[in-house]
Amino acid sequence: MTPANVSLVAVRDVENLRRRIKGWRREGLTVALVPTMGALHKGHVTLMERAKKMADRVVATIFVNPKQFGPNEDLAAYPRRENEDYEMLNAAGVHLLFAPDVAAMYPANFATSIQIAGIGEQLDGAHRPGHFNGVAMVVTKLLLQALPDIALFGEKDYQQLAVIRRLVADLNIPVDIIGVETVREADGLALSSRNVYLSAEERPKAPALNAALNAAAKAIAKGESIAAATAAAREQILAAGFAKVDYVEARHAETLAPLGSNAEPGRVLAAAHMGRARLIDNVAIPKA
Ligand code: PAF
Repeated sequence: MTPANVSLVAVRDVENLRRRIKGWRREGLTVALVPTMGALHKGHVTLMERAKKMADRVVATIFVNPKQFGPNEDLAAYPRRENEDYEMLNAAGVHLLFAPDVAAMYPANFATSIQIAGIGEQLDGAHRPGHFNGVAMVVTKLLLQALPDIALFGEKDYQQLAVIRRLVADLNIPVDIIGVETVREADGLALSSRNVYLSAEERPKAPALNAALNAAAKAIAKGESIAAATAAAREQILAAGFAKVDYVEARHAETLAPLGSNAEPGRVLAAAHMGRARLIDNVAIPKA
């Protein structure tokens, strides 16, 4: 069979996932895992394309993980479009889709939890208590189920990426974690499955989040105080029509500890609410 007429195989249970991956391993092929919650967009396609460049076989996962949603969050409303997702993954040349249901991932009597202290409890973790513990649980399971050589995650969820790097190091999970740069609309808005929550009126205002972060990052690089630059960004975000800013913070790019000086590698991160949408974004602080 030529690659052109091979269509994407979807499996829903760990046994079949492992059987397929074992077959590739026997052939000496390398494997990349790209975990997602579906409702795929161009940012996800970029992850798949990067994965294809870095490994012989790409496994995408789709699972809307209930453990990472708080009681008042959007678990029920989270967009689900499995047929469209399948077509996108097929067109991107992904080799295997793992799409388990909740009972397959968390069967009755499931009792284990993972807690990511420190790095998982600040920024988004402070505003979404338990969120990163839920992410850590599902990512650990997916990594142990597939045992890939590499796993790819978008930098749009920058803290998530840092949490996953911590988790993998702490638990000695034998996988390389690859961060992939954020894909943006032409006006700067970071692609996100949650952008569908923005109304037609809100959508043109949303790129102000990215613009404010870029301005803050440039100001910090030029020597402006971190407090003044992040306060100005907060004002800009509110002035643009966001109802509430959860945080705007300049942090060390790797540890996410508060940034001591603009000589350290830094990142400005923010979360803000507009209508039904809670948007997050982050940018690098350019080298001075
Ligand atoms: O970034 C996401 O889509 C999710 O948090 C992830 C990593 C797939 C875990 O559910």
